[in-house]
Amino acid sequence: MIPDVQVEEVRAHADLVDVIGDLVPLKKSGKEFKANCPFHEERTPSFYVVPAKGFYKCFGCDESGDVFSFVMKRLGLDFVEAVRYVAARSGVEIQEVSRGQDAEEDPYRTHFEANSFARDFFRSMLLDPRIGTDARNYLSHRGIDEATAERFGLGYAPDEWRSLRDAAAKLGITDDLLVKVGLLTTSEKSPEPYDRFRHRIMFPIEGLTGRVVAFGGRILGSGGALRRSGKDPAKYVNTSETPIYHKGEVLYGMSWAKHAIRKEGSALVVEGYMDTVSLAAAGFENVVAPLGTSFTEAQGALLARYTKRVLLLFDSDEAGLKATFRGGDVLLSHGLQPAVVTLPQGEDPDTMVQKEGAQGLRHYLDQAVDVLDRKLQMLQEHDFFSSIEKTRRALDKLLPTLRAAADPALRDMYVSRVAERTGVRRETLEVELSRQGPRRATMPSKAVANRRRHRGVPSSTSSIPSMGAERAILLILARDRERRHERMESLLRHLGPEDFTDPAWRAIFQAFLEEAELDHPPEGMEPEAARRLEGLLDDRAELLHAERTFGDALTQVRLTTHQRRVCELDQRMGEAESEAEKQALAEEKANVAREGREIGVGWSHAARRLGSESRNSTERMG
Ligand code: UTP
Ligand code: MN
Repeated sequence: MIPDVQVEEVRAHADLVDVIGDLVPLKKSGKEFKANCPFHEERTPSFYVVPAKGFYKCFGCDESGDVFSFVMKRLGLDFVEAVRYVAARSGVEIQEVSRGQDAEEDPYRTHFEANSFARDFFRSMLLDPRIGTDARNYLSHRGIDEATAERFGLGYAPDEWRSLRDAAAKLGITDDLLVKVGLLTTSEKSPEPYDRFRHRIMFPIEGLTGRVVAFGGRILGSGGALRRSGKDPAKYVNTSETPIYHKGEVLYGMSWAKHAIRKEGSALVVEGYMDTVSLAAAGFENVVAPLGTSFTEAQGALLARYTKRVLLLFDSDEAGLKATFRGGDVLLSHGLQPAVVTLPQGEDPDTMVQKEGAQGLRHYLDQAVDVLDRKLQMLQEHDFFSSIEKTRRALDKLLPTLRAAADPALRDMYVSRVAERTGVRRETLEVELSRQGPRRATMPSKAVANRRRHRGVPSSTSSIPSMGAERAILLILARDRERRHERMESLLRHLGPEDFTDPAWRAIFQAFLEEAELDHPPEGMEPEAARRLEGLLDDRAELLHAERTFGDALTQVRLTTHQRRVCELDQRMGEAESEAEKQALAEEKANVAREGREIGVGWSHAARRLGSESRNSTERMG
């Protein structure tokens, strides 16, 4: 059996979306994910996964539960098996209290063992008086003391083709396994496996619980030895994807930094291995690195479990700034509050502490600037607010960041600040924000907009009337509590939160989704949404033709989404770079058109309705 504390540890580390997503194709929908329910037959998704709350629920068949119950039901496992299954995918080692012999064990145990062996091997090579001399000198020259090297398990891969392989063979570790975890490799010239990491400082990459999942290896110095041999070696060689290593899901240093991050209430995010280790040597313990990738969603979610405050310390060159802002948006979308640390040109965190020590770096940390403010600063520096035209372009650069901000209070402040700086009214910004979905980065081109006008399809500005329908739906939901659950079910067969173009209406829909019994705004709801929800709940006007209005409004919202998708595809087809791409888009458009017919109204009819008729039906509602 598995002790309760371990069950809780597994639960805490499990990524619900990842576990369920492996068994059911999930689609992101706001902060939730949805899919066709795996527990009953359906054609439109009413199965929701709510990662923030750690549960799933189907509004069609009422199945709901946590990560373990999902695995139990879906795979027919008992509880202990389900915990083991989830543990194996979450990097948690569980020690079961023995009940005799264990039927099944971690399928990747041997992978971890091979990596653990390799870490010890590289480490012993670093400490070897003869073999490790250059590597030890290199580390000390870079300011990394022995204690820090030990804490990170740093090692040295000798300048040989088969030293790791031979040492492993003596312990009965097979080539096959070493190839699987990426420690050995083969090439056309050498089908016989050889060591992938040679003449490198080795950085073991640990999962959350400290098990080694991969390695990075940095060439010693400038890599003279290999270069002399005629090859131009990469500065770093990293383990590529393996069954136990998914690059975008790991943060280097996390197993060690997580406690400090929690304790200090903030995380320092640097670019790579050397910055992490070097800052640790200087006494900063809350440091992690995304390792060469730009910040991924999974990494954002991981950090969000430990803190809200993140300082981004990337290089101040152009690539670094790009990574900063892209990473900033990802972090914002996980409800985090990223701030940007700006180092002097040409410096990175490592060179900073080498030159000016911990105090020197601390000085820059203290001057960290909120990511949106930093963006505004940069735009200002580049004279982006000097003309209307430029301001318009500045706005396009700012909108993704506003949109990314998941924390309602932060988003509210952001909108105010951008309004203030650009002189664009708050309301206009809100409309802009609601107009483009998060995945739609560009506005339709003029040509597309013109074509659309000629066909009589409303241009994108007129997608706003559907906000009347959005309100109508929510009003009926709010007013008729008795039938709310039933109406939610029928709604969810056709639409999700992302179909609501207005952020406040979307938030209200989301709130009903989370709590169908709702009779006042939930805690933490954005003020504007809360105000409107109160208005809906208190509305005393007579509900006329509720059934028909509800149906009309639903159709209208679906049509608006449909129209938006068609416009988007039109635009992308206009910009397609190859025939093949155009062809693929055309096929997609045909599919979308088919779905449009399913909504039950012809296209031209739909367009007309969008303009006038249905607006009346929602006005009737008062
Ligand atoms: P840097 O070039 O800044 O390396 O790349 P660094 O870690 O600061 O190393 P030093 O200070 O030059 O010794 C940042 C990160 O990008 C990834 C690594 O994760 C590195 O730490 N990277 C870089 C690679 O994966 N491969 C490369 O060839 C270069
Ligand atoms: Mn560096």
